[in-house]
Amino acid sequence: MAALQDLRAEIFREDDAISQLNAFSRPYKHSPHSLLVILGSDQEDFYCRAIGMIAMPMQASRKNPRVVEHQAISWPNVTCEVSKLIIFEAAQVSRNDQHPRGRAFGERLLSDQLIRQLIIIIRNLVQSAILGIESSCDETAAAVVENGALIRSSVVASQLDVHGKYGGVVPELASREHLRAIVPVVRQALEDAKLNLEDISAVAVTAGPGLVGALLVGLTYAKALCFARQIPLIAINHVEGHIHSVLIENPAILFPALALVVSGGHTHLFEVREPGQYRLLGKTRDDAAGEAYDKVAKLLGFGYPGGPVIDRLAPYGNPRSVKFTLARMKGNELDFSFSGLKTAVLRWTEERDLTEEVARRKANLDRSLQGWLAVTPQTTLDMLASFQYTVIHELLGRAVAAADEIATESVIVAGGVACNAGLQKAALELPGVSFYFPSAALATDNAAMIAAAAFPKLLRQDFAGFDLKAQASLMLA
Ligand code: KG4
Ligand code: ZN
Repeated sequence: MAALQDLRAEIFREDDAISQLNAFSRPYKHSPHSLLVILGSDQEDFYCRAIGMIAMPMQASRKNPRVVEHQAISWPNVTCEVSKLIIFEAAQVSRNDQHPRGRAFGERLLSDQLIRQLIIIIRNLVQSAILGIESSCDETAAAVVENGALIRSSVVASQLDVHGKYGGVVPELASREHLRAIVPVVRQALEDAKLNLEDISAVAVTAGPGLVGALLVGLTYAKALCFARQIPLIAINHVEGHIHSVLIENPAILFPALALVVSGGHTHLFEVREPGQYRLLGKTRDDAAGEAYDKVAKLLGFGYPGGPVIDRLAPYGNPRSVKFTLARMKGNELDFSFSGLKTAVLRWTEERDLTEEVARRKANLDRSLQGWLAVTPQTTLDMLASFQYTVIHELLGRAVAAADEIATESVIVAGGVACNAGLQKAALELPGVSFYFPSAALATDNAAMIAAAAFPKLLRQDFAGFDLKAQASLMLA
């Protein structure tokens, strides 16, 4: 331990070299987010090969014991910050635990020349542009993201008009619309980014979960591009994409963090140990939260999607007027349930004759707030406010309990329901927990989040083969 402290003292004397980085303000435990991989053929010749996401100990190559692989935590963003404390930690790991040459490596790593060299190499390495493609549900999207952080373009072709009149997504229509949109959407994303396919480091595509027919369109197109242009293909889980929609805009999030993914298809709680490392803590046992919004909206004649309209109308009602009860979960208390609430809304409508009211809304062409208010009586507004209040409490109650369980104060909320103004307001008023929401453009399905999620995989060279399959129920953890 004494030697460990000596080495730390030595690092802090290297002020001159380190000041070049202007990035050492971030202490180690605040950014255990990504890693710097340093490969060396011998002690004289270390060079940085990639930046990944998880701190790993140094390993000696099996083939050639003279080749050692060192991984230290760093923070890759556009300016590429590297923490001296982090490099120090890596040196310690290698020195103490893993390799007989660790001490020599650690000391060399701390010499100013080497650090300077590393920074230059890292800066060059992170010039990557990933083309993301998303087609898991009812949005055809493509985007170009540089270095996992800078959105150069993001194009989303929504099919809301197509599905709206059916009160939900019709899978066959979704596939057909994706087929129509995929080529122009990808072309537009490249054009907006002012890049050609030759400039693309990898194509990232959503492989699941989602509608298989819809996923297949994006997947097949991505494979064809990669095959024709010899570009690496990266498979992304849609849910991981949603988590990255928040990470991309909030590089200061501390890990471990909690992620609440709430959309039309998901209501899941994950522990995010590091980006790329997830543990499922709880999930809905029946409907997703967005699905509950959509079903209630359909029942009441508001059309699809239901979330945005209910969210806008809720402030006009009394959230305490209808006493909906929160679901009590046996077994895992971090699981959710929304089907009881949905049934309670159904009962509420059955107790009243809403036929005329619903018919008026179905015929309503003015979809502005005033338009909806004109065809929605106060009792219905009160019920909608109470419904939204219950959903918010269901989500936030379990999120706070889960954050407690994993001892984190950082909660990421992602997915379409994260747009909900009532949810955001209630979350931001909660003491002791920092909630992070995506901006409106990144909350609903988009491809920037898919490209961003692919960046760590690109650095790890974690590529998919052409046998990659669309998986409707792909799990994240
Ligand atoms: O993430 P997303 O675009 O697609 C899925 O992966 O499902 O989420 C769409 C869902 C829909 O159910 C929609 O009703 C819901 O997100 N949503 C909202 C709001 N905006 C969209 N739910 C509640 N409040 C909103 N403001
Ligand atoms: Zn989604």
